Amino acid sequence: MKDTRIAAQGLVLLGCGKMGSAMLAGWLDRGLPADRVWVIDPKPSLWVHGTGVHINEPLPDAPAVVLVAVKPQMMGDALPSIAAFGGGETVFVSIAAGTPIAKFEEAFGVTTPIVRAMPNTPAAISQGITAICANAAGQGGLDEAADLLSAVGDVVYLDSEAQMDAVTGVSGSGPAYVFHMIETLAAGGVAQGLPAELAMQLAKATVAGAGALALQSQDDPTQLRINVTSPSGTTQAALEVLMDEKAGFPALLPRAVGAATQRSKELARG
Ligand SMILES: NC(=O)c1ccc[n+]([C@@H]2O[C@H](COP(=O)([O-])OP(=O)(O)OC[C@H]3O[C@@H](n4cnc5c(N)ncnc54)[C@H](OP(=O)(O)O)[C@@H]3O)[C@@H](O)[C@H]2O)c1
Repeated sequence: MKDTRIAAQGLVLLGCGKMGSAMLAGWLDRGLPADRVWVIDPKPSLWVHGTGVHINEPLPDAPAVVLVAVKPQMMGDALPSIAAFGGGETVFVSIAAGTPIAKFEEAFGVTTPIVRAMPNTPAAISQGITAICANAAGQGGLDEAADLLSAVGDVVYLDSEAQMDAVTGVSGSGPAYVFHMIETLAAGGVAQGLPAELAMQLAKATVAGAGALALQSQDDPTQLRINVTSPSGTTQAALEVLMDEKAGFPALLPRAVGAATQRSKELARG
């Protein structure tokens, strides 16, 4: 990581649980010196203690970035500890699900640079995808935020915060849909007589391998599907079930994404 502002002014991480620790591990791996990071967390893990970062120590005067990684419901308790940095050049980056930029503008003022980000759980193994957007004052901080968040996977820029609810419905909540697909694919194998452990091993490796192929291939997923579907073959028999317009994936997944998007909108309204 080559962020000279962070090297000069420091980085504050508010909340160092699962997501905060995954990001911190990525930053340290990429060469950010531990003494440039100040962690605020009531019960930091042994791992955090072993990293050499400042833990619950007095904060720098004007950190380059404050990354907010507490649960949305802890926000009211947590924000006062960083409120002093509002209205200056410190860029606030929040990964809290369902917490709109307006909530931070209320707390810190509209002239504060604020970036809102939505990561997902594969961030824990640096294979996440994070979508980001910023308030008017934060547009100049987007690249710096993207550099930090790329420590845990890919980063995409949104045109507007209004897209964040649908992003939550696709990639934020999406890993759980895929986990459920693994569960039910394995259950299908068990129903056809396979031992449970073997069926689960096959299902996990199939989803992981197909996902990796979809990412790496020149072909799009539609073409990849066509490539493995021989006329009247086994795959076609299964796809006739899965691609049914009324009961298959084309009906189910958009409904699932719609339900998550709707819930995200409700949560944002508080
Ligand atoms: N996990 C995901 O996949 C995911 C995906 C997208 C977005 N997010 C967002 O990422 C954020 C963090 O999620 P997480 O899964 O990492 O949660 P987590 O593991 O619970 O981490 C939150 C950390 O913040 C600490 N904390 C609580 N109150 C605090 C305070 N007043 N000041 C400083 N730190 C405080 C918690 O300590 P205690 O445990 O002692 O309370 C905990 O260590 C959430 O806002 C979530 O919406 C997570």
